[in-house]
Amino acid sequence: MADWSKEKIQKFVSNLKDLHTHEKLGQFYDDFAPQYDKAVKSFGYVGPSIAVKLLNKYVKSKDAWILDVAAGTGLVGEYLVDSGYTNIDAVDGSVASTEVARKKNIYKHLYVQWLGGDNKLNTNNEGYDALVCVGGFALNQLKSDVFPEFIRVVKPGGFIVINIRTNWLDREASYSDGKFERDMAQMETNRKWKLIEKYLDIQQEESVNQDSVTFIHQVC
Ligand SMILES: C[S@@+](CC[C@H](N)C(=O)[O-])C[C@H]1O[C@@H](n2cnc3c(N)ncnc32)[C@H](O)[C@@H]1O
Repeated sequence: MADWSKEKIQKFVSNLKDLHTHEKLGQFYDDFAPQYDKAVKSFGYVGPSIAVKLLNKYVKSKDAWILDVAAGTGLVGEYLVDSGYTNIDAVDGSVASTEVARKKNIYKHLYVQWLGGDNKLNTNNEGYDALVCVGGFALNQLKSDVFPEFIRVVKPGGFIVINIRTNWLDREASYSDGKFERDMAQMETNRKWKLIEKYLDIQQEESVNQDSVTFIHQVC
């Protein structure tokens, strides 16, 4: 896996379509973990930098407690540290990815667990000032059933930043036909959170398709 051409990344990521269980998804990301940072940097992956830049707009205290969900190898954490944040925890289901992240000494607590369904976050209610999730929502990955858990662990007034590649909004069946945003809106109707910014990022055509949308909600 030395050469990460655009075509190779696209082919590799297309394997996500067959990973219908956490076990298979875990195997995929465990195998990818040693190469992940190099591979995504080779095409100028922008999701983490976009999300952290937006988070900086809303979370001013550098002592704020932040939970990085689907943290993987810790790229979002690296940007959070570069921004001056000091209290960062993380959760991810891939053992090997979290091992890569652990070596970077970014996170105070690093939880290895799969989320969704009955799997709850291993953290207290309202323990965080903000939660950030980049790349966690994708084909066969997190579903909108985790929104209540995200909200549970963030303080009222805190922020939830979710970055998702726009192509997954069509390709993941549980998000498609506008359902992802409808599920978000339902949480707002139920007065659980409020959408305060929706940021669309369109990248150059020649890049690997990584157009993304970032949703920033404030917890009620
Ligand atoms: C594309 S990577 C993103 C990693 C990191 N946030 C980044 O932007 O580089 C997706 C990560 O989500 C994790 N993931 C996917 N579904 C998950 C779930 N249901 N529970 C926990 N982690 C999950 C995977 O293990 C993987 O590390």
